[in-house]
Amino acid sequence: MKVWVINAEGGIDGLQMIDRDIPKPGPGEILVRLKANSINYRDLSTIKNAAARGIAGERIPNSDGAGIVEDVGPGGTAFKKSDRVVGTFFQDWLSGSIHEGVMASALGGPIDGLLCEYALLEERGALHMPDHLSFEEAATLPCAGLTAWHCLIEGGGARAGQTVLLLGTGGVSIFAQQIAKASGIRTILTSSSDEKLDRAKALGADVLINYRDCPNWEEKVMEATDGRGVDLVVEVGGAGTLEKSIASVRVGGRISLVGILTGGQMDPTSIMRKSITLQGIYVGPRDMFERFNAALLQNDIHPVIDASVEFADAKEAYRMMEKAGHFGKIVVTI
Ligand SMILES: NC(=O)c1ccc[n+]([C@@H]2O[C@H](COP(=O)([O-])OP(=O)(O)OC[C@H]3O[C@@H](n4cnc5c(N)ncnc54)[C@H](OP(=O)(O)O)[C@@H]3O)[C@@H](O)[C@H]2O)c1
Repeated sequence: MKVWVINAEGGIDGLQMIDRDIPKPGPGEILVRLKANSINYRDLSTIKNAAARGIAGERIPNSDGAGIVEDVGPGGTAFKKSDRVVGTFFQDWLSGSIHEGVMASALGGPIDGLLCEYALLEERGALHMPDHLSFEEAATLPCAGLTAWHCLIEGGGARAGQTVLLLGTGGVSIFAQQIAKASGIRTILTSSSDEKLDRAKALGADVLINYRDCPNWEEKVMEATDGRGVDLVVEVGGAGTLEKSIASVRVGGRISLVGILTGGQMDPTSIMRKSITLQGIYVGPRDMFERFNAALLQNDIHPVIDASVEFADAKEAYRMMEKAGHFGKIVVTI
């Protein structure tokens, strides 16, 4: 079988397609014939900083993949041949709060990921795909999708009638827009591009701000909330946007902090003055993924796929993400 592997030094150009034997599932394992992957900013960052992340040898990138069960281990599993499945980002985070023990089980980081034709997964590290989704759509769920759900609903506690702030139009933010729309939550969404803002409007975004044209976008957010501030921010920008997010949130509001897109320094004083709850969120557990999938099915939500590239051209998918011209998700078909 063909697999893509990271070369610790080479970044995107150093990715190599190599041959490996198709593995055999052991007890409690399933062999998945991958049909699609999606790319996350984290995958790009891992490929570009592999050595710094402790990746020394060959490592298959990508946390997110969906496919068909080709074989199951002796004694059977909860899955059977031909089931359509999607992997979980953390193979060992089943439920409850995150803890140190799950970190080593992240696909495409400490362990091999899914940019390959076949992969072995523990049965606990996979879920049935939502029935209404294609493989490409399901492959967008494990990282960006679940993170958005966690930030907005299960961690952020956003409810109908509230207002949330979403930054940019990448995978996490566009999922958050779709979930918010289905939940009766008002959104204020920023982007560097008017064309992308138009696309976000078509998804139901209520207030649109171009953060390039309007560097003091937090003032626009306050205007759009009658000076009160938003109830919740899904913070994908990181240090470079956090101060403005803090300025945008209401007294007693929340910030779900997930992103590392921008660098910088920030003054934390307002977190205390406004009694803001700042919560770091790292994807989510398996049972939360099940609830997220149920919500997607119930609301007939289809992930927004901006571009799709063939397995042989996988490098191109990372280059697209690097250019940040995408809206929603980039997928690789296998
Ligand atoms: N903690 C977790 O569990 C978790 C999970 C998933 C992702 N993340 C992180 O969340 C971030 C977003 O991930 P993603 O997969 O959604 O990335 P992505 O698809 O690459 O999204 C990038 C988009 O973010 C926007 N952006 C960049 N700089 C910005 C800025 N200064 N202000 C506002 N928006 C800005 C841009 O949107 P426009 O082009 O519209 O301007 C850009 O296209 C990354 O840092 C990623 O590592 C964390």
